Amino acid sequence: MQSLARFRSVRDVTKLLIASRLGLDSPEAAREAPILHDIELELDEGEFVAVMGPSGSGKSSLLHCLSGLERPSRGTVVLCDQELGKLSERKRTLLRRKRTGFVFQFFNLLPDLTVEENVLLPFLIVGEDPAPHRARLDEVFAALDLDDLRDRRPHALSGGELQRASIARALAVRPELLFADEPTGNLASAAGERTMQLLRALNERFQTAILLVTHNPRDAAFADRVLFLKDGGLVQGAELKGEGIDASLVFSRLEELGI
Ligand SMILES: Nc1ncnc2c1ncn2[C@@H]1O[C@H](COP(=O)(O)OP(=O)(O)O)[C@@H](O)[C@H]1O
Ligand SMILES: [Mg+2]
Repeated sequence: MQSLARFRSVRDVTKLLIASRLGLDSPEAAREAPILHDIELELDEGEFVAVMGPSGSGKSSLLHCLSGLERPSRGTVVLCDQELGKLSERKRTLLRRKRTGFVFQFFNLLPDLTVEENVLLPFLIVGEDPAPHRARLDEVFAALDLDDLRDRRPHALSGGELQRASIARALAVRPELLFADEPTGNLASAAGERTMQLLRALNERFQTAILLVTHNPRDAAFADRVLFLKDGGLVQGAELKGEGIDASLVFSRLEELGI
């Protein structure tokens, strides 16, 4: 095992995501600046990366291009060793559904289904029986403190509970990578902080890599690495990395960058 681990790191196959020269044009490309330009981004297995940027900087567009929800205008995305642009629509969708999860600002749970049914939905969509995954799902429900809420419908949940349910749904298929688009943007401060603590704990416990986009320095500070997005481009040399990232450091970097 040890030699395999060494081999893997030497061969650099531990990259889960590699985006090169990524660009996305606006539908009004002739007279508007691109929504995204010259994006170079890599993410390792198990890594937790935050992309920090103000509203309108291109955060959601970036996640959509990296996850295969949207086709970029230029550049390449390699996700789980597969180049998205070379896959058929169907294969790209399957890759996204089986190997990644997505958490949205507005939760996107189905209102007529219970929490448990919402969490099982990803299996039904890909035509897989959830029964063999029961033990894992129980672990996910417990980790997100959802045991007592399994039979509730979304209308009977608080914002924090809704987001915990949507994180459980995103983790149901045991994704290698979780995309999170401003997951605390619609939550009160305490519920938002709890959500971030849970994401950090899940990253450590299940080794699920996380790519978070946010405009909140507190949220970004939970990551191993923080990148800065401005006007559709990642700011070169601005990255924060390692121990000791906290909200005030993220905040002062934002001020330096004039973001
Ligand atoms: N489908 C679209 N059509 C036209 N403009 C878009 C579209 N999607 C995003 N944009 C524009 O691209 C920019 C970045 O948007 P977005 O990715 O939503 O940023 P963020 O998530 O950081 O707020 C904004 O100026 C937005 O108006
Ligand atoms: Mg957005």
